[in-house]
Amino acid sequence: MTPDGFPVPDPELLDIRDADRSRASLERFGAAIWTEALDWLYHEAMVRPIQRESYPDSRGRFFGPSNEPAPAPDAGSPSREVLAEFRERVAPMTFNAQFPGAFSYFTPPPLAMSIGGEVLAQWLHQGVDVWHAGPVGAFVEEEVVGWLRTLVGPGPGSWGVLTSGGAMANLMALAVARDIHLARIRGDGIPPRGAALEGVRIYASDQTHFSVERGLDVLGFPGGTLRVIASDDRFRLQSGPVADAIAEDRAAGLTPLAISAVAGSTNTGSVDLVVDLAGLARSEGLWLHVDAAYGGAARLSPRDAARVPGLELADSVTVDPHKWFFQAYDIGALLVRRREDLRDTFHRSPEYYASSRPQDEPLNWYEYSIEGTRRFRALKLWMSWKHLGTSGLASLVESNDDLAAYLAAGLRDAPDFELAVEPELSVVCFRHLPEGWEGWPPGRLDAYQNDLQRALELDGTAWVSVTTLRGHTYLRAGVVNYLSSAGEIDGLVAALRRLSEGVLEQVDHR
Ligand SMILES: Cc1ncc(COP(=O)(O)O)c(C=O)c1O
Repeated sequence: MTPDGFPVPDPELLDIRDADRSRASLERFGAAIWTEALDWLYHEAMVRPIQRESYPDSRGRFFGPSNEPAPAPDAGSPSREVLAEFRERVAPMTFNAQFPGAFSYFTPPPLAMSIGGEVLAQWLHQGVDVWHAGPVGAFVEEEVVGWLRTLVGPGPGSWGVLTSGGAMANLMALAVARDIHLARIRGDGIPPRGAALEGVRIYASDQTHFSVERGLDVLGFPGGTLRVIASDDRFRLQSGPVADAIAEDRAAGLTPLAISAVAGSTNTGSVDLVVDLAGLARSEGLWLHVDAAYGGAARLSPRDAARVPGLELADSVTVDPHKWFFQAYDIGALLVRRREDLRDTFHRSPEYYASSRPQDEPLNWYEYSIEGTRRFRALKLWMSWKHLGTSGLASLVESNDDLAAYLAAGLRDAPDFELAVEPELSVVCFRHLPEGWEGWPPGRLDAYQNDLQRALELDGTAWVSVTTLRGHTYLRAGVVNYLSSAGEIDGLVAALRRLSEGVLEQVDHR
């Protein structure tokens, strides 16, 4: 027990009531945290794309001989020791989105301003839920959501809400489609549950993010509700096959409810033919959801916005600023054409949120979301947007698109690479074709891509993931890193060629 009654190390970091007592310590603590972050940035993140150990090895290193999570510490340790443990055990085991050669999943590095906004948001600790718990949080979110609505363009009467990410936004969009649109189709205005969800059909391509199918499951729709339509040779959903499927389903007595399109798919960045799909949805009386979690950011750029057309025609749109708006985790968003659709789906009236001044009609964000207390997510995006402006954010997106085009051009002309598909945005999928591959037994070329990816990971020059397209394994470069330049693209291609020889030797000896 300290003299002040706080039985902890660094009591001035806990009892922060008095500036004379705590402010200097808090400043030192803040500086120490920032120093740890920058040491990590320059000694880890700028050095390699990812720690090299396999999962079992890194697990063993983190957990020690037991290989299992340790129990919670009973006694505390001084902050100095906690930071030392961070430095020794946490910092060296990261995936490094900041590494300029990291061509990752949709996990771009966050802007420094976004990290700053996140830190301030945590200090301000606005619970963006009922208005009183986070008054300014509610206003900043309203403003930022307004900016996103302008970008996507659903027009007057539209609305939106920040979410934990794209999966949550997709789930909420499907909940709105169920409670508002299916109730409308059923004609009774009652949010459908149980048997009323049977025989419903929602159309999406084979490139749709898995969260759509999972969301339907969570929402109580029976298996088979999602009718998966084959994408075209550019991995896009065309309206023709959807129209055929709708006709077939209507003839079978089923209930078409919605089309779920993707503008910027996870695998290849492909963009469904949203304008055509919007026309079909309108003529068939279906809800149109567009998952623009990644691709929505292209709307920042007057030059590249036309690559994701038609978002303004949708009933609901997912955008995910912790993807291509370069935001610190987490921040996603769901935008809807009609504000009341969100409120009618999610509004409940807990007695403890009654307002003493209902005549003020405060904006209570909990009425528009599945989530309850939400972090002050809007601040980091608000600050980043103010810092760079729409034009600055756009230039980062454009430079990624240009780099992806540069990579694709190099691969297209190379005899030893195969480009899977022309990139629509900034994802490039490709395979390396080593000499003699044509004579290989089935499956060997796929295994070789996996081995090459692992060799690249160990080498540390760059990082790409692998994915499966039409049953075959491809390397996938997500060019979503604003710190990358043509040098890193050249380095990636050169490294794959260089590493190929060693990988082939391993393959031969298997
Ligand atoms: C197209 C698409 N939609 C939704 C998601 C899910 O987003 P989140 O991981 O932020 O929940 C992803 C994630 O990569 C995605 O690529």
